[in-house]
Amino acid sequence: MRVIDSVAQLRAALDPIRRRGGRIGLVPTMGALHEGHLTLIREAARVSDEVVVSVFVNPTQFTDAADLAAYPRDPETDAAMAASAGATVVFAPTPGEVYPAGFSTGIRVGGVSEPWEGTARGAAHFDGVALVVTKLFLMVGADAAWFGRKDAQQVAVVRRLVRDLNIPIEIHAVPTVRDADGLALSSRNVRLSAADRAKALAIPRSLSAAGAAVADGETDADLLTARAHEALRAAGIEPEYWAIVDPDSFAPLTRIETESLAIVAAPVGGVRLIDNELLSP
Ligand code: PAJ
Repeated sequence: MRVIDSVAQLRAALDPIRRRGGRIGLVPTMGALHEGHLTLIREAARVSDEVVVSVFVNPTQFTDAADLAAYPRDPETDAAMAASAGATVVFAPTPGEVYPAGFSTGIRVGGVSEPWEGTARGAAHFDGVALVVTKLFLMVGADAAWFGRKDAQQVAVVRRLVRDLNIPIEIHAVPTVRDADGLALSSRNVRLSAADRAKALAIPRSLSAAGAAVADGETDADLLTARAHEALRAAGIEPEYWAIVDPDSFAPLTRIETESLAIVAAPVGGVRLIDNELLSP
């Protein structure tokens, strides 16, 4: 496994593989790798000849400077973990390599990027994600890229971006990896105290309660949303949003007639957590 920090070296490493007709897979990450990321890397490794894991804490997608500063960084452990899951290249550029002096181009995906995370974190968040993901796709020239359903709206934004710009890449979405207690794995979880971690379990519980109710025939999204808010409030959590939406457009639903998505964002002990679950009638 090689660790590469420049685009020129990355191209030099990957061009011969591409010329031989090898399949190049890409797993974009911001590092602080956990079992969720490793699952994406293993999936990529199953069907790719070369697996590039990018590790880049992308400044343009952070709308909160304190969150960017507090983002956990551990490059050596990341490289070892990525290699153990099947990465052949770790691409870890500096901010200056990705955004050199004079950088002036932006990408905005409309529609699906606007509600929920787009409103809570500001439009700049998905603008930054769209920009860095496009750059990574072009730098790596990957045939396919793997994303986690944990960030469901991000997957929808990336799919829209790829369609709209005719980017020749397959997008794969991998189910959310959870701890045994149900909490979705996140690089931010390390910042939770033991007490806050226990409290945070109300988030996945609110989603599975909705999932169970829908499986039992409940179709009233407003009722399920009100119940979830109540359950979270009882646990001492005030969500930024908890909603039931169309899984592709992220438009809010009032009735659940087809597969729908329950989505939530909530701060717990100063850590912003997001989660979601598919609801199948
Ligand atoms: P990051 O938060 O590091 O996540 C990298 C990838 O891992 C994303 O596709 C995310 O959805 C996935 N992931 C995170 N936790 C997961 C879990 N518990 N189960 C399954 N997949 C999980 O998302 C980003 O970085 C950035 O926005 C990025 C796409 C790299 C652009 O900067």
